[in-house]
Amino acid sequence: MPTPLKVVAVIGSTSPSSRTLLLARAILEQLRHHLALDSHVVELGRIARPLGGALARDELPAEVEQQLRRIESADLVLAAAPVFRGSYPGLFKHLFDLVEIEALVDTPVLLAATGGSERHALVIDHQLRPLFSFLQALTLPIGVYATPADFDGERIASPLLRDRIALAAERAATVLGAVRVPSLRRIA
Ligand SMILES: Cc1cc2nc3c(=O)[nH]c(=O)nc-3n(C[C@H](O)[C@H](O)[C@H](O)COP(=O)(O)O)c2cc1C
Repeated sequence: MPTPLKVVAVIGSTSPSSRTLLLARAILEQLRHHLALDSHVVELGRIARPLGGALARDELPAEVEQQLRRIESADLVLAAAPVFRGSYPGLFKHLFDLVEIEALVDTPVLLAATGGSERHALVIDHQLRPLFSFLQALTLPIGVYATPADFDGERIASPLLRDRIALAAERAATVLGAVRVPSLRRIA
């Protein structure tokens, strides 16, 4: 049995019915078709107030400190954010401002975002990618972007988005060494 890969999904939404969370879950599900995962989800909505009130790492309460440590020790980070005013939310940046500056050096990061329309799809390459490049993380080439039109309630209805998620997961698995789970073959 291979050692499972520690994947931490950081969800930059504070909405209780978050499309970004749905997208991240779908990506994790696809990753599981290729890799043995030990996954953990950090939801900004659950830590937003104590996180926002801390100006430095040593002001964080223990439960938020623990979430940061999980991010810092991940084998793969799935960074998923909603678009706010053409970028990622300020609180999402605040979280990564508190992550230890060298903790994500050479860590693969899969980028994902949701917006109100297709118009801000480049948030992945123009906003998220530079942030993680600054942190010297290995941002994976294929990012995933979704809009409300891609969803039917909690279900991802768009075949194009499903294909994109499958491609992102497949390519991430290749980079991560593709420890295949034999019983879970990818459904074409
Ligand atoms: C404060 C705010 C600013 C937003 N700004 C943008 C924007 O600039 N571009 C865009 O495409 N969508 C924008 N949106 C829409 C959200 O990105 C979109 O609804 C997203 O899917 C919400 O994700 P969530 O359901 O995970 O919270 C904005 C929403 C809010 C609340």
